Amino acid sequence: MKSFPKAFLWGGAIAANQVEGAYLKHGKGLSTSDMQPHGVFGEVVERVADDNILQDQALKDVAIDFYHRFPQDIALFAEMGFTCLRVSIAWTRIFPNGDETTPNEEGLAFYDRLFDELAAHNITPLVTLSHYEMPWGLVKQYGGWGNRQTIDFFERYARTVFTRYQAKVKLWLTFNEINMSLHAPLTGVGLPHDSSKAEVYQAIHHQLVASARVVKACHEIIPESKIGNMLLGGLMYPLSCKPADVFEALQENRSWQFFGDVQCRGAYPGYMLRYFRDNGIELEITDTDRDALKSTVDFISFSYYMSGCVTADKELNEQLRGNILSMVPNPHLVSSEWGWQIDPLGLRTLMNMLWDRWEKPLFIVENGLGAKDKVEEDGSINDDYRIDYLNDHLVQVREAIDDGVEVMGYTSWGPIDLVSASKAEISKRYGFIYVDRDDKGNGTLARSRKKSFFWYRETIANNGANL
Ligand code: BG6
Repeated sequence: MKSFPKAFLWGGAIAANQVEGAYLKHGKGLSTSDMQPHGVFGEVVERVADDNILQDQALKDVAIDFYHRFPQDIALFAEMGFTCLRVSIAWTRIFPNGDETTPNEEGLAFYDRLFDELAAHNITPLVTLSHYEMPWGLVKQYGGWGNRQTIDFFERYARTVFTRYQAKVKLWLTFNEINMSLHAPLTGVGLPHDSSKAEVYQAIHHQLVASARVVKACHEIIPESKIGNMLLGGLMYPLSCKPADVFEALQENRSWQFFGDVQCRGAYPGYMLRYFRDNGIELEITDTDRDALKSTVDFISFSYYMSGCVTADKELNEQLRGNILSMVPNPHLVSSEWGWQIDPLGLRTLMNMLWDRWEKPLFIVENGLGAKDKVEEDGSINDDYRIDYLNDHLVQVREAIDDGVEVMGYTSWGPIDLVSASKAEISKRYGFIYVDRDDKGNGTLARSRKKSFFWYRETIANNGANL
């Protein structure tokens, strides 16, 4: 019978810089995200940590004020029946500049309160160590992940939070969408947008070593923990059955699978070594690095919003730029208001692909529909489009489970409206919970339940049997 496992974790996923706000509070330092008020693809605006000058200039500075309102929000998640919430820790709350030797106690205390609140509602935290932000101090003074020293700074940060929260957090993720660095170097590895491929891959190498080192540290400090990687599941189809298109799709898929290959198998794959050779890229990879990489992840987590097509025709490939990837439109799919092509079956394909490749449990830690919502006169929000999107994708998750894929859980992206990553908009809403705030920052920040709130509650209560 097709069903979800009994221990399946149901919930939602958020990221510190997209929900917390309070971006200078209690000793927090400035991050790469604070320097990108217009989102991951927007220009860099260098700001200084002066409360009086800067207060609340960018939407993310307040975001949805989760920093102060999390008890109320977690109560709403609990009302939906969440058994899991994916959150991230803002590195800059713990080590404001990144290179300190002593952590910021006020930052640590905030996440203690957050994890205690989750525990009070029996919600399991799944914690991302680094979600699209790093201390700006490390970027300015050290050159971000381009500098080997950043590995040590990150390990110190990770060991600090593993030790502090060892009794409260057993599920961890290293870097959010680690493959994103290829498309947004500042967000991914703290390098300028115009960095060369060689510079970006060297920084990625340092990040992969850091990821492996903290996997080891996590197992040492919290033996019963599980720690996974996090990939942007950029499933690509060949636009046609021309052998050249099929090969192009293989290569495109490898451009992100490479990260998983290193994180799951503990070494660089041959196709990547060839890519480096062909492109004149010589990485500094030490024997100690090779040894460190052998600490592989326990499970694979990934985001999935859409699929794309590629062709060997380079010009066509550039025609459409989605979330992050250059791709050509798939004539068989419809798109969201933001041009993201909706492909529920692609999720089943992707899950089978990942399972066949690595045979490690999967965790779907992001999936959802960004859409404009209309608040009716009576205050209701009838987001049937969101229900349809999520329902159709979850049906495919169930199919994949029936195919034999091992799946730990599903956390939909943005269970409460938040500030989008790519363009820092709030009008692109993902939530089951509406937040009264617009792109200019107007609104009361009041929360209200959308129609999808009740649908998700029913889905969780039935362990997906209603889908
Ligand atoms: C993923 C990120 O790329 O997609 C999230 O991990 C992000 O941080 C999500 O919010 C959706 O993208 P966007 O641009 O619609 O917020």
